[in-house]
Amino acid sequence: MPDELIAIEPYRSEHREAIAAVLINVGWEQRYIDGQLLAVEQFAMDAKDAAVFVAHQGAVFAGYISVQFYLWNRLSQIHGLVVDPSTRRRGIATSLVAQAERFVRNRGARGIYVDTPVTNTGARAFYTRQQYQQDYIMTAYYDVDLDGVTYLKLFDRA
Ligand SMILES: CC(C)(COP(=O)(O)OP(=O)(O)OC[C@H]1O[C@@H](n2cnc3c(N)ncnc32)[C@H](O)[C@@H]1OP(=O)(O)O)[C@@H](O)C(=O)NCCC(=O)NCCS
Repeated sequence: MPDELIAIEPYRSEHREAIAAVLINVGWEQRYIDGQLLAVEQFAMDAKDAAVFVAHQGAVFAGYISVQFYLWNRLSQIHGLVVDPSTRRRGIATSLVAQAERFVRNRGARGIYVDTPVTNTGARAFYTRQQYQQDYIMTAYYDVDLDGVTYLKLFDRA
């Protein structure tokens, strides 16, 4: 299974339960899962400036990414990126980010950014590996005692 091909495709509503299952496996509380599923449906409906892509490895649903393009400054934002714990470190997030970057570059984006908790060492190492640069820390972004950190990739400089 680890050697099977990774397939990326646009989100369809039949993927909803698989995304919910991944978020349960990651340990999210139900209220956060509900919010994320709503956001996924909204991003998927905005075919022009937003997208959601899902990944399978063989028959296994492995994860998803949601991304939005902002016309006003031609930057874009990764809103959600989650890979199932059972399929990590196989390049799935790398493939999802590459697809999201292709989507926004096709719309004329000059860069892409993403926020993550400062404590999320795995994601921070992942984005650094994808040539995202650490930009600013936002105090109490996630909660009173949990700061956020933004990673930015400007395509012209990448
Ligand atoms: C972060 C996350 C998306 C990475 O997914 P993944 O499919 O395992 O990532 P990849 O296999 O594409 O990783 C590519 C490289 O990034 C780095 N990397 C990925 N996860 C890492 C981790 N936990 N610790 C250190 N480096 C990591 C490694 O250099 C890795 O290459 P290697 O496996 O050859 O060493 C996944 O761990 C996840 O879903 N975490 C929980 C949700 C989350 O934090 N989302 C991102 C916040 S917005």
